[in-house]
Amino acid sequence: MTETLDIKITKAEQTRLAVTDFSELPFGKVFTDHMFTADFENGEWKNLQVLPYGPIPMSPAISALHYGQAIFEGLKAYRQPDGKISVFRANKNFERFNKSADRMSMPAVPEEIFMQGLSALIQIDEKWVPSQENYSLYIRPVMFAMDPYLGVKASDSYKFVLLTTPTGPYYSKPLKVKIETEFTRADEGGVGFAKTAGNYARSLYPFEQAKKEGFDQLIWTDSVTHEFIEEAGTANLIFVINGKLVTPSIRSTVLDGVTRDTIIKLAEEAGIEVEERRVSVKEVIEGIENGSLTEAFAAGTAATVTQIGEIGYKGNIYTLTDSASRTVSNGIAQKLNDIRYGLAPDQFGWNW
Ligand code: COI
Repeated sequence: MTETLDIKITKAEQTRLAVTDFSELPFGKVFTDHMFTADFENGEWKNLQVLPYGPIPMSPAISALHYGQAIFEGLKAYRQPDGKISVFRANKNFERFNKSADRMSMPAVPEEIFMQGLSALIQIDEKWVPSQENYSLYIRPVMFAMDPYLGVKASDSYKFVLLTTPTGPYYSKPLKVKIETEFTRADEGGVGFAKTAGNYARSLYPFEQAKKEGFDQLIWTDSVTHEFIEEAGTANLIFVINGKLVTPSIRSTVLDGVTRDTIIKLAEEAGIEVEERRVSVKEVIEGIENGSLTEAFAAGTAATVTQIGEIGYKGNIYTLTDSASRTVSNGIAQKLNDIRYGLAPDQFGWNW
């Protein structure tokens, strides 16, 4: 049996619940009353605590700020019909967190610290978990290098933090996306499969350029030929082609998304054929033109299932079928929601 860890609890003097408008919850802007933190020093994790959400004292020389040794995750907790709270596939996010840590030469966070920290934090901020439809508590684990040292080397000290933020949908409408053929999100042998800060930093400039051209997001292509599709913005990308679910296979440049994996499992369970493979831009454009590509959507924890309405490529705009008529993705998204909100049996044991 796993031992119960000694987590110090310091409660906030006042809750901000009463002054928080739960009908107005933009993604990632409203934080709950508390956070969880732990420190890695001299080869061990210590100072486990839940404390009021707020600034963390740190040196301006910490290597996370200078060299980007920082990783994060995103997972969600859902209010169940009986009022209880369930976290969706927490173990998958925990495993991926440590894969990212390994690639970034950071120490692993032990499972009991991740899970018991999460449990302690959610219990204390239990009232912050929304109950409106399509709302949830977004959980943001983050770890960053804390050595105040300007030499380029893996840090010896780290901070692990869990933040929680009640949130509604990340996107409110189908997206107009541009297939990006100049800039890339990730390169072979790089860190694209890890959830590390720099992957998101490098995406900002191309994203801003695309926004100026009237797009909501980008579709990333491979860095060598720009002929193969990799991801959509900060999420994975899934198509329905000839009735099959088709999605770029996981490689060093593609994040192994938990929502992607969940959708694949639900599709297979529903008898829908799934192909995880290289997907070319040509196949996508031709599929839209000849009608074999009927659905396209982004899949991610924040994005959930976000329909793609239009795709821009080399100056042309390709319009997809009306998103309300997309029976495959809408059906899977509904099933996924029903499981997360405790409205359908959780036969895979995903709810914790
Ligand atoms: C998530 O879906 O949790 C993400 O990591 C996307 C986030 C960068 C907004």
